[in-house]
Amino acid sequence: DKISVIRVPFGLGGAIAGTEQGPTSILAAGLLDELKHLAPHGVSCDEVRLEQPHRDADSEDTNSETVYANSGLNLSPRSRQDGIIKYEPQVRAMSERTADRVARAALYGSFPLVLGGDHSVAIGTLAGMSRVYDKLGVIWVDAHGDLNTEHTSPSGNANGMVLAIATGLAAFKQTDIGQTRRLLRNRNIVLVGIRQLDDGEKTLIRSHGIHCFTIMDIDRLGIQEVIERALLLAGNDSDGIHLSLDMDALDPGEAPGVGTPVHGGLTFREARLAMEGLAASRAIASMDIVGVNPLKDKESRTSGLAVALAAAFMGKRIL
Ligand code: ARG
Ligand code: MN
Ligand code: MN
Ligand code: MN
Repeated sequence: DKISVIRVPFGLGGAIAGTEQGPTSILAAGLLDELKHLAPHGVSCDEVRLEQPHRDADSEDTNSETVYANSGLNLSPRSRQDGIIKYEPQVRAMSERTADRVARAALYGSFPLVLGGDHSVAIGTLAGMSRVYDKLGVIWVDAHGDLNTEHTSPSGNANGMVLAIATGLAAFKQTDIGQTRRLLRNRNIVLVGIRQLDDGEKTLIRSHGIHCFTIMDIDRLGIQEVIERALLLAGNDSDGIHLSLDMDALDPGEAPGVGTPVHGGLTFREARLAMEGLAASRAIASMDIVGVNPLKDKESRTSGLAVALAAAFMGKRIL
């Protein structure tokens, strides 16, 4: 089948600068060469054009967020300005353009592979896919739940709010984006690899019936079993599943080049087995790979793993 690689060099939804360089580093790590061997009907690659992104000098915020992400401390939402999404106009503009591009690819029968960027690029992917699929499911492979509203968010960062926007829990809803008329259904959302949730996110998961496999569920059941269960839950009465891979799902020992590292993550071997199991289901309709921060990825280790996981998903086999 045909693959549409869609580069979204946007980092304003994340805590620190750098993820806007993710698409360039993933391509430099050899993504297109791998995909061209694997996609019999060809690979296209283009970039979503964004207004010159500008990040305010805000180093104190950057540092406190990094400490917060690494410490496991639960900062009160009131330590941030309540009710705001940082860089909301830029997030909305990026989401509009990403949604248009993703929907166009999906309508032409090409597989959208979105390269972030921070995880807020998935606001656009989900909005675009929701124009083409009536009942989209989502498998969200991440250390984080990304389910905060603008009121529960400890940071105000859009990358921690994607699924609240997609399901209509936040004030900014994916139905605000262009031609998107549908929200996601909570029961077809499955989180995998989770190990850092804010208090508000825990409440939303429990009260809205969102499925969550924590990293400890993976320890107990094994990644293969978790992926099989995730496919059943996300695919139940749905017409396609979007796979969103935040590279911070992997352990920072192996994948250090991410914006919000959390210790105790997936091994590369678990992540590769997950990709193979997800691909074998033939139920995945689109994918994003997000969170690579080249400024923290000096030896391109994390972008190299991103390429290897994309190749495993697209059918590369060891033997
Ligand atoms: N839960 C934290 C927040 O809302 C961290 C989110 C990190 N998300 C990500 N996609 N890396 O700010
Ligand atoms: Mn409000
Ligand atoms: Mn994420
Ligand atoms: Mn994450």
